[in-house]
Amino acid sequence: MQYGHFDDQHREYVITRPDTPLPWINYLGCESYFGLISNTAGGYSFYRDARLRRLTRYRYNNAPFDFGGRYLYIRDNDTDKFWSPSWQPTRTKLDKYECRHGMGYTTISSSCGKIEAQTTYFVPLGETLEIWKFSVTNRRNKPAKLSLFSSIEFCLWDAQDDATNFQRNFSTGQVEIVDGVIYHKTEYRERRNHFAYFACSEKLAGFDTQRDTFLGAYRSWDNPAAVEAGKSFNSVAHGWAPHGSHHVKVSLKPGETKEIIFVLGYHENPADKKFDPPDSQTINKQTVKPVIAKYLGGQNVTAAFDALRQNWDTLLGVYQVQSPDVHADRMVNIWNAYQCMATFNMSRSASFYESGIGRGLGFRDSNQDLLGFVQMVPARARERILDIAATQLKSGGAFHQYQPLTKRGNNDIGSGFNDDPHWLILGVAAYLKETGDWGILAEPVQFENEPGSEQPLYEHLRRSFNYTLERIGPHGLPLIGRADWNDCLNLNCFSDTPGQSFQTTTNKDGKVAESVFIAGLFVLAGKELAAIAKKFGQSKEAERCLAETAKMEKVIYQHGWDGEWFIRAYDDFSKPIGSKVCKEGKIFIESQGMCVMAGIGLKDGKAKLALDSVNKHLATKHGIVLQQPAFTKYYISMGEISSYPPGYKENAGIFCHNNPWIIISEAMVGNGDRAFDYYTRINPSAREKIGDVHRCEPYVFAQMIAGKDAPTHGEAKNSWLTGTAAWTYYTITQWILGIRTDYDGLRVDPVIPAKWKGFTATRRFRGNTYIIEVQNPKGKQRGVKKLLVNGKELAGNVLPVRPPQSQPIQVVAVLEG
Ligand code: BGC
Ligand code: NOJ
Repeated sequence: MQYGHFDDQHREYVITRPDTPLPWINYLGCESYFGLISNTAGGYSFYRDARLRRLTRYRYNNAPFDFGGRYLYIRDNDTDKFWSPSWQPTRTKLDKYECRHGMGYTTISSSCGKIEAQTTYFVPLGETLEIWKFSVTNRRNKPAKLSLFSSIEFCLWDAQDDATNFQRNFSTGQVEIVDGVIYHKTEYRERRNHFAYFACSEKLAGFDTQRDTFLGAYRSWDNPAAVEAGKSFNSVAHGWAPHGSHHVKVSLKPGETKEIIFVLGYHENPADKKFDPPDSQTINKQTVKPVIAKYLGGQNVTAAFDALRQNWDTLLGVYQVQSPDVHADRMVNIWNAYQCMATFNMSRSASFYESGIGRGLGFRDSNQDLLGFVQMVPARARERILDIAATQLKSGGAFHQYQPLTKRGNNDIGSGFNDDPHWLILGVAAYLKETGDWGILAEPVQFENEPGSEQPLYEHLRRSFNYTLERIGPHGLPLIGRADWNDCLNLNCFSDTPGQSFQTTTNKDGKVAESVFIAGLFVLAGKELAAIAKKFGQSKEAERCLAETAKMEKVIYQHGWDGEWFIRAYDDFSKPIGSKVCKEGKIFIESQGMCVMAGIGLKDGKAKLALDSVNKHLATKHGIVLQQPAFTKYYISMGEISSYPPGYKENAGIFCHNNPWIIISEAMVGNGDRAFDYYTRINPSAREKIGDVHRCEPYVFAQMIAGKDAPTHGEAKNSWLTGTAAWTYYTITQWILGIRTDYDGLRVDPVIPAKWKGFTATRRFRGNTYIIEVQNPKGKQRGVKKLLVNGKELAGNVLPVRPPQSQPIQVVAVLEG
């Protein structure tokens, strides 16, 4: 069953019924002010940090799932009937309903009793506010007398504290209402110099700012007392739950439309100009008034919306493709790139599955995210790299997370994830390949955010590499530490206490448990570092890196190969994990993908053998599961991985993040058919028609799809904020379509299904636009044998960097191999 459809021309997903299996959401904002919005207007907003600067309240894990949001109520004052034009919260039956999620905006339209309503929500570029552009049309043949009520619940800034510290928070809430603008100023009297505001373009018939007055005792959002009565109470919040509701009366002749703008925003005042008059407790509104005024008139709103659309034209214009596969095209051209921007902005902090209070920016996650967004916003990628590197420990290790607001490493989560440092090398490599900005390597960057500890970024990469060399286990493989990419393979944890966090509890300083995955990653990152070092004039270092990676490859052959696939790890007793000798967890996906991507086994057939084993033991029609057989019980020596019931998450779920590693590996061995088939299995657009099974949004990848051991095989969870976004984007654009950035140019090396006759892609790269036509007359899967650049034949398959030209460069690549 489908709940909507793609509108590729407008870059929108159109949801045609409100009761989607799960909330299907979108993100508003892409700079500092952000919002999450569901297809029924649920969600919340925050400034920079979803935990510390939360503007509006949202209650996670609610029933219904999605509750709390940017709600409007329309009331027919002739009949006293009222409804929500976004369906929630009243869930009144609507005659028509449509939600269009677009690039940074969402429009919800509906019709009820011949009253049509449409609301577009978006965040203008350069502003710290969101706009709700609402219009209502009377389609009756008689006049309509309506009341419109807005409703948001203010969060008292720190979302964690807001949800727990009631003995204090029920007494701190404060608001001001001036000229129809509701100002939320809790804690402004003390150490905050920021406040929120909620404004409306119309003259108000009334307002409410105390939630429980608006709702009335023992009522809920589906029948607020004010809406039912058709009259606000003009309540002024003192303590309890500050709320924002405007009441506007609208009279419409038959056929008449009225547009009303709401502006919800965040504003900071200079610390010494907080109050006006200065010795009062009244917010100084001089600085915010012009901002509010700017958007309450319709013209600036339209201009801001157009600017937002244009911005996305530019961002998405970097890479566009027309291939024989509509699902791949819309992911590359629209949704996957868009999702990559969301992971760049949010990391793993705020989605409908990440509460916004739990996690900062992950060291490993943010580096991998670079793979997906570096081409769109290289300057911001540069800043991100320098921020991440500044949290690196002097040992070369990493704080596992850092806080976006302070940009400092988060000690609560700690360190000791021994794969972490290598992702920095891969992130920087991706940046260098995209931009050629070698200067970044010389940038002085602190360690552990300590002033005076600055070293060139290049030195950070060296320390990342050396970190592993200094932590080698009994087989010569890297020690795993707290965990590697698989946060749940906790070989040094030995947790027997209920509720104890596998992620943060003190671990044994293990000197035995080793990771074949890190060994593969070390080889992959080491080869990149060697290439970087060579270019950076450090050829001795380059040689050293290659010598060390060659040594590690040998160790992998000796102790990391099981006969038909790569072993996953050795536990604290030096017993193999992911080997045929194991009873459960005999084969894992991660070491197959990582070792092959590192080039191991490509020459002697081991790579192919490993990939065939993946196909045989791990591939399902919904994607490739993480390991088999699933763990049927808890193993104290393995930790969180065995805490999940079989088929979910790391315990044999389809952990989509690592499927691309296999897809790239298949591309590396030239298997275009299988690579694309695996890609399509997890591509949400291709899964749209099984919406009732998949259940998550069909326009973005999910972190996990339930594996074959789960009763709900095929059901997706944790959509949006996942490394899957960057890895799938990187895989389809750079490895399947094969237009791959390299240090000295753009490589054209497609590995595609034999039945494709070809495709055309446009790629902006280092100041030039390339229009690349790939032809596949003989039904091959790989092998560019002829490359024509502006009609002239070029040897090899790399388009060298050239001075920017105004005309696009025409490239024809013919597969013949
Ligand atoms: C999840 C992992 C996640 C980790 C860190 C675990 O509970 O299963 O996927 O990476 O938490 O937050
Ligand atoms: C999610 C985490 O964000 C990521 O860092 C980790 O690699 C995977 N889970 C696998 O455990």
